[in-house]
Order: sequence, then structure tokens, then C-alpha cells
Amino acid sequence: MNIQHIAIIMDGNGRWAAQRKRPRTWGHKAGVKAVKSALQACVKANIGHLTLFAFSSENWRRPEAEVSRLMTLFLSSLEKETPELTQQGVAIRFIGDVSAFSDKLQAKMAEVSALEPERQQLTLNVAVNYGGRWDIVQAAKQLIIDHQQGSVNLDDISEDLFHSYTCLAQQPAIDLLIRTGGEQRISNFLLWQCAYTELFFIDTLWPDFDEKVLQSVLDAYQQRERRFGQTSEQLNA
Ligand code: IPE
Ligand code: IPE
Ligand code: MG
Repeated sequence: MNIQHIAIIMDGNGRWAAQRKRPRTWGHKAGVKAVKSALQACVKANIGHLTLFAFSSENWRRPEAEVSRLMTLFLSSLEKETPELTQQGVAIRFIGDVSAFSDKLQAKMAEVSALEPERQQLTLNVAVNYGGRWDIVQAAKQLIIDHQQGSVNLDDISEDLFHSYTCLAQQPAIDLLIRTGGEQRISNFLLWQCAYTELFFIDTLWPDFDEKVLQSVLDAYQQRERRFGQTSEQLNA
């Protein structure tokens, strides 16, 4: 089983907290612990790339207090967890429009992104203020700029070239996307990148995600046949 890249929509923190009669933010805090266990599980399973949806471009629409608590938690988690993760060989990168965040948070993200672990085991991409439509639009804008400046001819524009302008273009294709929390939607996550990704919608709430849950998804993935337009007979020939 050759899985190079997993993406996860980490959903269900609020419901997890509500089940315990606690505020939603308590669920987000528990969600950070689940991130750590997901990371360990991926390193153990030899998966080189993990992309996590942490904050969508639509999540600004939540109550101000929740957004503000998420930002504080984001900053404190980066401060607290980065040294250990770097030591364990995790390179942390960010995708999304980070210009919307506070100067302090942006500075921390820049600092964390610049760290290069000695023996890299895993690249963790954290999607923050990310939207799949935003990604496609930012790629189009960059491409137009390059065309106007003369480095790209109209006839050179292909799917591969466009892809090179989208987020995660330098990383392997996403083999599987997991959404926890039971909803069966993409919520504007990696629209361009997931064209041929295997999708898994599971009921586990994000704070309950662990190595066992990941393993059950990986087992289910092994049962799938990725045909990329071909027939089963062709693949088995
Ligand atoms: C996902 O959990 C975390 C973020 C979107 C930041 P939710 O907060 O969406 O949890 P539910 O879906 O309300 O249970
Ligand atoms: C998607 O979860 C975004 C993240 C997990 C960061 P949401 O809980 O915001 O998704 P919707 O709004 O229910 O689709
Ligand atoms: Mg949700």
C-alpha cells in the first residue's frame, strides 16, 4: 500500500464538547491532542504528507468569541508543540490566505515554516483561512501576472501548468481525504487537488481520532480500486 499523502477535514469538535456539556472551545482544545495523535500515527504508517483543515475561509462567520479562542489556541499550540514536532522530523507548512491573521500569528507561522527538521519524516500542511475556491482564484491571478509579464504564453497553459500555481503543487497527489464528524461534504477544502482522491466520511468526532481509527480507514482504502478512468480489467491485465 503506497500512500503518500492524506488530507483530513477535522470536524466534530463542537459536538464532542456538547456531548460532555462543555463549551465548544473545550472541544477545540481536545482537537489539538487528536492532531498530535494523528501525526504520530502517520509517521508510524510511513505517510510522508498530511494536510489538515484547521480553519476555513468560511469559519470567520462563527461567533467572534469562538474565532478569537481558535486564534489563541492556534498560536499557543504552535508555540508549545513546534519544538517537539521538529525534533521528531515534522516540517510544518501553511496553506491559505494568512494575510488575514494578526501580525503576531503571521510572524509565528513564518518562523515555524522556516524550520527544517534534521531527518524529515513528514510534511504537515496546516490549512488556515483556506478555501478551495480561493486557491483556484489565487492560482489564476498568478498565472495572469506571469502571462502579462511574458513568462507564460497562452498556448503553454495546460492542466499541469495551472496545477503548478495551486497550493501543495510541490507535494504528492492526495491519495485519500478523511472527514470526521459524519457530514458528507467537502466544505470548500481542496477542490482542485481532490479530483481523483478517495473520500472517506467517518462518524468519529475529531477529538476521538487516533491510530486505530486511522488504521481502519487505511484498511478500507486498501479495498478500493483506483481506476483513474480505466476499467478494472485493464488494471488487472
Ligand atoms: C471543526 O469542528 C473545527 C473547526 C472548524 C475549527 P467544529 O467546530 O466544526 O465542530 P462541530 O462540527 O460543530 O461539531
Ligand atoms: C470544515 O468544518 C472546516 C474545518 C474543519 C476547518 P465546518 O464545520 O466549518 O464545515 P461546515 O460549515 O459544517 O460545512
Ligand atoms: Mg463542523
